[in-house]
Amino acid sequence: MVTEEQVRDSLEGVLVPAIKRSIIRLNLVREVAITDGKVRVVLASTGLITGAQDWVTDQVVEVVKKLPEAGEVEVEFVEATPAELNEIGHVIAIMSGKGGVGKSLIASLTAVALKRLGYEVGILDADITGPSIPRMFGINTRPGGNESGMLPVLSKSEIEVMSINLLLPSEDDAVIWRGPLIGKAITQFWEEVLWGKLDYLIIDLPPGTADAPLTVLQTLPISGVVIVFTPQDLTAMVVRKAVNMAQKMEKPILGVVENMAYLYVPEIDKKIELFGSSQGEEMARAANAPFLGQLPIDPELAKLCDEGNIERYNAEIIDSLGKSLSEATTGDKE
Ligand SMILES: Nc1ncnc2c1ncn2[C@@H]1O[C@H](COP(=O)(O)OP(=O)(O)O)[C@@H](O)[C@H]1O
Ligand SMILES: [Mg+2]
Repeated sequence: MVTEEQVRDSLEGVLVPAIKRSIIRLNLVREVAITDGKVRVVLASTGLITGAQDWVTDQVVEVVKKLPEAGEVEVEFVEATPAELNEIGHVIAIMSGKGGVGKSLIASLTAVALKRLGYEVGILDADITGPSIPRMFGINTRPGGNESGMLPVLSKSEIEVMSINLLLPSEDDAVIWRGPLIGKAITQFWEEVLWGKLDYLIIDLPPGTADAPLTVLQTLPISGVVIVFTPQDLTAMVVRKAVNMAQKMEKPILGVVENMAYLYVPEIDKKIELFGSSQGEEMARAANAPFLGQLPIDPELAKLCDEGNIERYNAEIIDSLGKSLSEATTGDKE
């Protein structure tokens, strides 16, 4: 007779049309019951328009029927909120003292790094007034879903992405909202988006240490914070502010990352420290957290960002970021 495990395995192959992600990964499978060879599959209808429900039903029947000795298949839908379905292992917020230091870039590379290690990863773009995650990943698909839940958009390497940018009529439309509305949008991205089962959700925080990043740190269950800075942050004041804020909110600082640390000139095989020498160790001391690595000013990387191909970037920092963060977060847990 067919087993529950066989049925669940086969459901891995059933994709939700709007996002092309499996109903298992989206955690839509509520129950699999087998009685006298008859298979009953209960699914959450969250984020599924009627057409999608029909399509998923047909697919479920098809894959289960293919199993040896499977009898009749019955599919039932129940209601559930995204918050009831989301199972997110670790939420990592990427923070900076000020804008333009490469926070979104590091947020994206962090997601890429963890994805390359085989984890399921999502990015929540909480920088509502300056959303830049979709551009770096070359995403402009409108998110699917309905009143019961919004679906994220999947990147080329299958990282789930949600950003206000994907919901605006035109990518260039600016968001001119006041604080409370911004806070509400971010909360909605947390509560009303069906992220499903993720090992990591990376949050690209709004820049600086004002109200917007504070709200996110207060309202979302952040496991830890990564602080991005550049050697330009001369007095280290801005970084200390970020550190203070994370500590005040009692969020562990998982590490610090230095961006635009130097420019490498291959013709003369030299690293030029445009903004002065690295402050990585000093910042790490100030944050009482590990120095996770540095990123040079890399024209190739800037080009990949502009073309929406950040997932193609290869650099040492991607390996080290992924390893350090996975150790830091799973170490906490076990
Ligand atoms: N190390 C780097 N090398 C090349 N370009 C970079 C680097 N860091 C950032 N940039 C460029 O600077 C721009 C701003 O970076 P971004 O991550 O959006 O900053 P922030 O989110 O802190 O405002 C990006 O479009 C990116 O192309
Ligand atoms: Mg940004």
